[in-house]
Amino acid sequence: MPDGTAVHIPKVPEKYVKWLRARQGIYREIANMSHLGQHKNVISLFEVLEYVQDSKSTLFLSLELVSGGELFDRIKIGRGTSEVTAQRYFRQLLDGIGYCHAKGVCHRDLKPENLLLSDPSGDAVLRIADFGLSAAFAIAANGSDGAAQSSAGVSSGHSHSHGSPSSCSSSPATPPSSLSMRRLRSVVGSPHYVAPEVSPDSVQGYDGPKADIWSAGIIVYTMVAGILPFGKDLKHCARFNEFRKWFERHELVYLAHGVRIQNVRSSPPGARPPSAASAPPSVTEADQRSKDGQRATPMEELNWFFPDHVTENARSLIIMLLHPEPSRRATLSQVLRHEWTRGGGAAEAVDSVTQQLGKTKFSRSPNAPPSRDQPRQSCQASTLASPDAKNEWGPGSSSQRGGPL
Ligand SMILES: Nc1ncnc2c1ncn2[C@@H]1O[C@H](COP(=O)(O)OP(=O)(O)O)[C@@H](O)[C@H]1O
Ligand SMILES: [Mg+2]
Repeated sequence: MPDGTAVHIPKVPEKYVKWLRARQGIYREIANMSHLGQHKNVISLFEVLEYVQDSKSTLFLSLELVSGGELFDRIKIGRGTSEVTAQRYFRQLLDGIGYCHAKGVCHRDLKPENLLLSDPSGDAVLRIADFGLSAAFAIAANGSDGAAQSSAGVSSGHSHSHGSPSSCSSSPATPPSSLSMRRLRSVVGSPHYVAPEVSPDSVQGYDGPKADIWSAGIIVYTMVAGILPFGKDLKHCARFNEFRKWFERHELVYLAHGVRIQNVRSSPPGARPPSAASAPPSVTEADQRSKDGQRATPMEELNWFFPDHVTENARSLIIMLLHPEPSRRATLSQVLRHEWTRGGGAAEAVDSVTQQLGKTKFSRSPNAPPSRDQPRQSCQASTLASPDAKNEWGPGSSSQRGGPL
């Protein structure tokens, strides 16, 4: 105490701290899902039920049921899906992400296992699921958490239904201007899909929506290539380090419907990086050289990164999404305007190679459950026991989800 009085601060048992964190996570998931309401590309939360017993309580999340399985199960190893199919799912994914971001919520665990399909048909609609690691990145002017604000009832710990459905929007809206953005700090996500800046080394925290864009880039690469682009640990991944070096040599200039690659060395010293608003750059040193046939074009330098069957247009989109520097990574609107996203330049045919997933390079993300037949109803249960109760967590507890790093 300031007056020098000695006080005793009891040690909080680690078990209790863990329990509190897990409970906080579940309430955050419920709050964020309730805030989201309904959208065609986002799984809806219908109701939360709580079963209270003497020493524990179990929360049941009643979710909209889908029966088409996971997007993961539709990707052919070593080959991917046809680009036309990938484009369709990717547009739906962007619609869902855009909706969540417009509501001030970022997902932080986007991966094919968390993208479910409405039915087993080829025309199934993609729905983003598993908001267990989601975060509200928009804060109301009074400093409170913007997304969690509308979730009254959740904090009381009692069952509640979500609010009235929100209108569907496919535009990449931004959160209302009364909200301000906050940088996130929790290092969460799934290995292989998590952005490089989501790291304990990042002093400034990270931009949640940009981290989702990175994951979308890994997903689209995986869909079209049939393999994962990088290893689990980006810091020690030789492919990622080589990929990052390419961005040190080249600047991406975002244009109306795509991107232009400019050699960094051709910019005058100290010049600001060109923006989308600026006029298209003149022919660069790299372009000149490629015309002379002397050296690979900037895009050709990345041939090692893409399987041969991936089209030029898909490649150009992927490098926008996977810019290692989040401030130079494409925004959602830039991604939506890209020609590949809009439907151009995709490869129609794929061969009939069908292999089982889960081998060598391309395997299910850690902690993800094996795929299974979809139940008729979907209900997830999380048991919240008091910390000293014997059975602290029931199976399927949200605390075990998402493969936190
Ligand atoms: N609404 C749903 N309808 C059908 N299957 C679902 C639904 N929600 C989840 N699942 C299935 O359960 C799996 C795990 O759910 P998820 O919410 O991702 O939790 P976890 O945190 O365990 O990853 C999903 O990958 C999917 O196969
Ligand atoms: Mg999941």
